[in-house]
Amino acid sequence: MNQTIEDLKSRRSIRKFKDEQISDEDLNTILETGTYAPTGRGAQSPKIIVIQNPDTIKEFSQWNRSFFPTEVPDDLDPFYGAKTLLIVLADSELPTYVEDGSSVLCVLVNAAHAIGVGSCWIHRARDEFSSQKGKELLKEWGIPESYEGIGHVVLGYPDMESPKPLPRKEDYIQFVD
Ligand SMILES: Cc1cc2nc3c(=O)[nH]c(=O)nc-3n(C[C@H](O)[C@H](O)[C@H](O)COP(=O)(O)O)c2cc1C
Repeated sequence: MNQTIEDLKSRRSIRKFKDEQISDEDLNTILETGTYAPTGRGAQSPKIIVIQNPDTIKEFSQWNRSFFPTEVPDDLDPFYGAKTLLIVLADSELPTYVEDGSSVLCVLVNAAHAIGVGSCWIHRARDEFSSQKGKELLKEWGIPESYEGIGHVVLGYPDMESPKPLPRKEDYIQFVD
């Protein structure tokens, strides 16, 4: 099978990581590849925030957990102990911003897999960046307040077998006349 097709089909969400940081080379490959994601009118409006400071990741983990819709145990880490956290933001002034940010997230997780880095897409970035704290962070980072959170990607070397994918739904694809 073509290697790209094989990679796209074999990527799975990884939720247990080795206790080591990913190499700068791997990180930069993933980030640069993410910037080649298709975006509406080629506007490249999304921004990829990179966080590797363990204290900041811990703080963001607690923040992310606060947006779970139900009570969760205090020790539940929504970022699964990953040592690299990416946050994708996109400019809500553009009509395609959600799609643009999602496009970047898709490329990031697949680029990671292609070079042996495990990843998981993590939700609740919208809740984070629509809050007062999110707006203050945007200001601190010099990003316009029209930016919204689209999603996170956690990265690390896998410390688990890749899970088996669920069978694909039979009616996933529909040909019409
Ligand atoms: C929009 C979106 C939000 C997601 N949010 C989370 C999340 O918050 N936590 C998590 O562990 N996985 C999250 N995932 C990963 C999905 O659970 C995962 O992709 C799905 O179960 C299919 O598994 P696979 O990625 O191994 O194929 C998210 C995926 C998407 C596309």
